[in-house]
Amino acid sequence: MNTTLKLHEEYPPPGEEDSIRQISEIMKRNYERAYRAGVSPALRGVHPKSHGCVKAHFIVDDGLPGELRHGVFREPRVYRAWVRFSSTSSRAQSDMKRDSRCMAIKLLGVEGEKLLDGEKDATTQDFLMGNTDVFFARNVADYVELMSATSAGKPLSYFCSLSPPRLRLRELMNFLSVLLKPVKSPLDTRYFSQTPFRLGERAMKFSVAPRPCGSPRVEVEPGDDALKQAVARQLNRGDWRFDFLVQLQAHPTRTPIEDPTIRWSEELSPFYKVATMIIPAQRLDLPGQAELEENLSFTPWHALPAHRPLGGLNRARRAVYETISKLRHERNGARREEPAVPRAGRERAPSRAEPTRLGCG
Ligand code: HEM
Repeated sequence: MNTTLKLHEEYPPPGEEDSIRQISEIMKRNYERAYRAGVSPALRGVHPKSHGCVKAHFIVDDGLPGELRHGVFREPRVYRAWVRFSSTSSRAQSDMKRDSRCMAIKLLGVEGEKLLDGEKDATTQDFLMGNTDVFFARNVADYVELMSATSAGKPLSYFCSLSPPRLRLRELMNFLSVLLKPVKSPLDTRYFSQTPFRLGERAMKFSVAPRPCGSPRVEVEPGDDALKQAVARQLNRGDWRFDFLVQLQAHPTRTPIEDPTIRWSEELSPFYKVATMIIPAQRLDLPGQAELEENLSFTPWHALPAHRPLGGLNRARRAVYETISKLRHERNGARREEPAVPRAGRERAPSRAEPTRLGCG
């Protein structure tokens, strides 16, 4: 066991910059191949399949302890937000195919200088999550191997091969856990950051858990767009509530920063609730909504310094998301800018105590 590591610190391995460059190049090449001139519109390089992009209210809890009161959780208040549900595959494939299901939250009206050069004045904070709590690559160099194996049409050789002899058992289990986790509705699913982030001076992981409170069950026919249909029908029937939870790093090696294949045990690092997210009843097909969704760019680096992404995989995401988002917007002739809070008066944000149409507290 490495006893020299400190809590809340990053430890970039030698050569990581090279691996990051390789990931960016591979993703850029794949993207340009997928969206050759004439293929329009250009969708996201990964997560092109949407299961709905909805308006939400993100209500920071009152009375949080000092150690949790950083960044957007510094004081009780209500943020407007966009929430996009998606699947990971680079192809917008049928929902009947197994894939990881994801949630991206974009808080609006977040004051304070942000991390990305060129977007320091943006007023957004993004939180990106998948529906399992662990990733399937320990570091950036391994992720390059996975991408190379996938490009060569042999993705499984990343997990296990005879020549060279290799078995990545934990990564394989993590990968299978995604495929073995059926999701009937993106609203009934729990999501996890997988990788760590700052919470002030400390390190955290975060998670969003649906709050079961008599939420409407709806029957959805199997089909290529079953997941979006489930979201549309459920939001037609009432509001949805989620708890936003954070988990603080408790041990430098047992809850590591640099290896997202290792689960942060809840015994060591319990989750604390810091906010409630309400997705009010709404339609998904309003005029202009699809265009707005396609123009949004989510990245974990749309963040306050108090929520800086940590660890190698997150360091790699900084350049990659920006490169692909820029290409996508160029291809579509779309303006690339972070959204502001919609004009006041159109819709009232709920207060902390206000019951929703489902009456869950
Ligand atoms: C090195 C690892 C990763 C790379 C290279 C990567 C790359 C990307 C890229 C290029 C996009 C498309 C961005 C755009 O066009 O706007 C994307 C989207 C996304 N990624 Fe990752 N990703 C990584 C890891 C993760 C992890 C660990 C998670 C969550 C646990 C995650 C969650 C998401 C989500 C939710 C989206 C969709 C955002 C949206 O709805 O627009 N990614 N990723």
